[in-house]
Amino acid sequence: MENEIYNRFSLQGKVALVTGASRGIGECIAQTYAQAGAKVILASRKQEGIDKAAARITESGGEAIAVAANVSNGDERNRAIAKSMEWAGRIDILVNNAGTNPAFGPLADVSESAWDKIFAVNLDAALFLSQLAYKAWMKDNGGAIINTASVGAYQTSWFTPAYNITKAALVHLTACLANEWGHMGIRVNAIAPGLIRTDLSRALWENPEAAKRIKSLPIPRLGEVEDLAGAVLFLASDASAFLTGQTLVVDGGQLVHSL
Ligand SMILES: NC(=O)c1ccc[n+]([C@@H]2O[C@H](COP(=O)([O-])OP(=O)(O)OC[C@H]3O[C@@H](n4cnc5c(N)ncnc54)[C@H](OP(=O)(O)O)[C@@H]3O)[C@@H](O)[C@H]2O)c1
Repeated sequence: MENEIYNRFSLQGKVALVTGASRGIGECIAQTYAQAGAKVILASRKQEGIDKAAARITESGGEAIAVAANVSNGDERNRAIAKSMEWAGRIDILVNNAGTNPAFGPLADVSESAWDKIFAVNLDAALFLSQLAYKAWMKDNGGAIINTASVGAYQTSWFTPAYNITKAALVHLTACLANEWGHMGIRVNAIAPGLIRTDLSRALWENPEAAKRIKSLPIPRLGEVEDLAGAVLFLASDASAFLTGQTLVVDGGQLVHSL
């Protein structure tokens, strides 16, 4: 009886597909879900990186496989879903985490090719992978979809405006899918991390100006990938059974910080 609340966070018997899982935030999400009892399929473009990340999970007792897939390619998205169904027979949890930022600088200078690429990875892939998971398993069995947005979805930026626009659209995609699929037992939510120490954000957290800004935040430090583990487990598990269409901002208070 006293463990009932902890049991609601368990992912025992569940299967999760996590994109962008070879390192950084995605690897942490995959490890978290494996620790909570889920079988995990890790996807990213480079086979070697994704194999190593899956091995780190299996070596510590979890169940995982690696699937190389570029989420901006339709055939490779299909393959990731097919492999997941073949290995585990179900997809209860989909985490659209793969993200990119090829377009630093003001919108006046963003090229069409960079704009297309950033939308293809950060937004289009989340919709089309969600459609595939929906058709393969979730429409008949329910599930949880979690999108990795960003606190940038709520802010303008001189450095990453195109990226921020994709993340704002991802927050709205999250709400729209939640609205369409809720009655089928599919919950769709997102996380919006602040600045987290990963390869993707290196240019930001190594910048001395950014380091100064971080020190003035309500929680005055850089985020670590582990800071997101509680939120992503909550959103994937029955602990959040009545929550859908929401974006949890996990940013050390960046968004509520007054200037
Ligand atoms: N770090 C932050 O401060 C921060 C803040 C807010 C939001 N986010 C978001 O968090 C997510 C993860 O970012 P991260 O910081 O963990 O970055 P990261 O450490 O650079 O990891 C990115 C992951 O995505 C994979 N990936 C990149 N392009 C891909 C594609 N086209 N298809 C499949 N996989 C792809 C990479 O592996 P391969 O190279 O093998 O493909 C890698 O596994 C992104 O959506 C990012 O926008 C990050």
